[in-house]
Amino acid sequence: MAKLSKLPKLSRRGRTALASAVCVYVLLAFQLHSWRVHSGFYKGLTTELPSTARAGDTNLKRFQPPAAAAADAAATGSLASLRSQLALQFPYDASQPMPKRVWQTWKTAVDSPQLSPEFRRNSGLWMEAAELASYQYALVPDAHVLALLHNLYGGVPQVIQAFESLPLPILKADFFRYLILYARGGIYSDMDTFPLKALGSWPPAATGAAIQYRGRAASSGAASSSGAPEAGFVVGIEADPDRVDWSDWYARRIQFCQWTIQSKPGHPLLRELIVNITATTLASTHVRSSAQAPPFSIDEDHRADYLVNCRDKRRFDDEFPASQKKTAANVDGTDTMNWTGPGVFSDAVFNYLDNLIATNPDVAIINDNLRAHGGAGTHKFYRKVTEGLESAAVFVKEFFTLIEEPVAVDDVLVLPITSFSPGVNQMNAKEDDHAMAFVKHMFEGSWKGTKPGTAPDT
Ligand SMILES: *[C@@H]1O[C@H](CO)[C@@H](O)[C@H](O)[C@H]1NC(C)=O
Ligand SMILES: *[C@@H]1O[C@H](CO)[C@@H](O)[C@H](O)[C@H]1NC(C)=O
Repeated sequence: MAKLSKLPKLSRRGRTALASAVCVYVLLAFQLHSWRVHSGFYKGLTTELPSTARAGDTNLKRFQPPAAAAADAAATGSLASLRSQLALQFPYDASQPMPKRVWQTWKTAVDSPQLSPEFRRNSGLWMEAAELASYQYALVPDAHVLALLHNLYGGVPQVIQAFESLPLPILKADFFRYLILYARGGIYSDMDTFPLKALGSWPPAATGAAIQYRGRAASSGAASSSGAPEAGFVVGIEADPDRVDWSDWYARRIQFCQWTIQSKPGHPLLRELIVNITATTLASTHVRSSAQAPPFSIDEDHRADYLVNCRDKRRFDDEFPASQKKTAANVDGTDTMNWTGPGVFSDAVFNYLDNLIATNPDVAIINDNLRAHGGAGTHKFYRKVTEGLESAAVFVKEFFTLIEEPVAVDDVLVLPITSFSPGVNQMNAKEDDHAMAFVKHMFEGSWKGTKPGTAPDT
C-alpha cells in the first residue's frame, strides 16, 4: 500500500485504488464488532457440518437459525450447525438493494509491476465502470485475503480453517469469491474479464408472465405478470452444449459460470455452497489446526458425501483410495471442478432451485424463452420442462437450454450464455455488441493454468 507521503504524486487511477482500499477497511470495520460477539457465543460447541445432499424438507430459503436452541446447546456443550452459524452471522434480507460493489482478487496489488498489462487494463476498466456507476471497487491482493477473511468470518471459524486447508491456490480462489459475495455482496469478476456495459444496466429482473405449475395456478388464480422478483443472485450460463457428446467437453450439461457472479449478501444459495465446500474440505484434507476453531463433526452415516475422492464413479470403485487425504500433489481437474469449481457451483444452483419449489408454494418462475419464437429455441423442451415441474418438482437441465432472455426462479436470475460469455462462436452465444452481453471473458486461465476445453461449433 502507498505511503501517505507519496499521496500527492499518485495518478488519478492510483488515488482511486487507494481510496477503494481505504473503503474496504472502513466497510469492514463494523463487522469486527459483530463477530466478536458471535465467536464468544460458539465457544465450547462442536460444529456440525451438514451434508447439503441431505437437506430433506428443510426450506433453505426460509431457514431460520434456532437462536434459542443454539444458546441451550452452548450451555450443554453440544452441536452448533454450520448452516445456523452462517445464517446467523449473515442474515439474508431480500428487501435490501443489490450492493454497488465490484470485487476482484489477484496475487499482487493493482499498482504492482508484476500485474500483467492485460490484467492492469481489465482492472482499470472495472474501476472506471465502477466510478461511472458510483460503485465501490476493490482488488484484494493475496497478501490481504486472510486478514479479510478473519475479519469477515471470525464468527464462523470453521470456514477460515477450511480455506486455509485447501491445498491449491485455484481452490482458494474459487472459495474466496463465494465467501466475499456471501459476506459483502456485489459483483465478483475474474481478472481475465472486463465490463462491456454500464454496471447499472445489468438486468434487475426477468420479464414475462409467471409460469403456472402444480398448485400455484389454483391457489393464486390468474397468472400474474407483476410476479417478477428483484434479483438477489445472478448467474450466467457458461456452457450449454446441446449435443450427445457434451460430457467430453464440460463437467455439467448446463454449467453456470463462476468467473462473474452478482449477489446480495447472505444469499442462501451461497450459504449452502459454503457449507458444502467447508464440509468436504475439512473431511478430505490434512486440516490446518487452528486455535480458534472448535472441533467439528460430520454425518457418519453419509461419509461419502464428504470425501472429495468419493464422488460418483469413484464411489463404487474398490480400487480407488477413497479415504486418501488430498494434497497439492494428488488433486486433479475433476477434483477442482467438483470440489470448488463450476461442477459443485452448478449443482448448488440446481439443488437450491429444486429445494425452492419443493418447499415453497409461492415461487415465481419466469421463462419467456419457453414460448415459441420460431427456430430451434428453448420451447422445443417445453414438454420436458413442464413434466419436470409438475410431476417431480425439479428443474430439468433443458429449462435453461438455449435461453436468450433472462430466466428467473424466485430471486435467482439466470442470464443467457451471451451475458458473461459473448463471442465464443458456439452454443448459441451472440457477439460482444449484443444487448445481452455484459462481461467479456478472455479465457486467460488466471490461476487455473489450463484452459477449459473448447468444443467444436455446435
Ligand atoms: C456437496 O455437493 C455435492 C454435489 O455437488 C454432493 O454430491 C455432496 O454430497 C455434497 N457434500 C456435502 C458434504 O454437502
Ligand atoms: C464429478 O461430478 C460429476 C457429476 O456428478 C460426475 O459425473 C463425475 O464423475 C465427478 N468426478 C469425479 C472425479 O468423481
